[in-house]
Amino acid sequence: MKSVTMSVAKGVLLAGAVTLFSTAVGPAARADASADIKYRQAAMKALGSHMGSIAAIAKGEVGHAGHMAGHAAAIDALASMTGDVFPEGSGGDATRARDEIWRDAAGFEAAVKAFQAAAAKLLEAAGAGDAGAVGAALGGVGRTCGGCHRAFRKPRS
Ligand code: HEC
Repeated sequence: MKSVTMSVAKGVLLAGAVTLFSTAVGPAARADASADIKYRQAAMKALGSHMGSIAAIAKGEVGHAGHMAGHAAAIDALASMTGDVFPEGSGGDATRARDEIWRDAAGFEAAVKAFQAAAAKLLEAAGAGDAGAVGAALGGVGRTCGGCHRAFRKPRS
């Protein structure tokens, strides 16, 4: 109970700091979506890195079996952030995010949810330390990455 209270207290402090920060930065920075786009692309790159690393371990290209759970946890954490990194107004020419993300909000949310469910399965398989199950779960995650990209990401220009 104590640690829950502590994290809530920390959360409140953090929320206060974020409010202060956004007040200081002001609306001009918000109107410029380039930071949102960069932040989103960095999250996607991180996903790509962790997927590549865990796949190399699962295929036996490298050792580090003990790292599987860590990569899976990172992918799961990033999956929980994915719905947040597409704020309204962060579309346009400077990003590969398609306008359909905001036009078809329900379809996009379904893609996010499918990804989160697959990431949770990967986390479970990695926690059990079973490389075969991790391989299968990785395929499942990869399909949800691809499913969203096909529907909601512009081709490389
Ligand atoms: C719900 C939709 C969605 C899911 C799920 C998703 N992505 Fe993406 N991804 C996108 C969109 C949209 C972009 C384009 C972002 C932009 O340019 O602002 C993108 C961009 C990327 C990029 C290019 C980043 C860059 O440098 O510009 C990589 C790499 C990537 N995704 C990897 C992944 C991987 C790996 C997964 C699964 C583990 C994944 N994505 C899951 C929607 C998704």
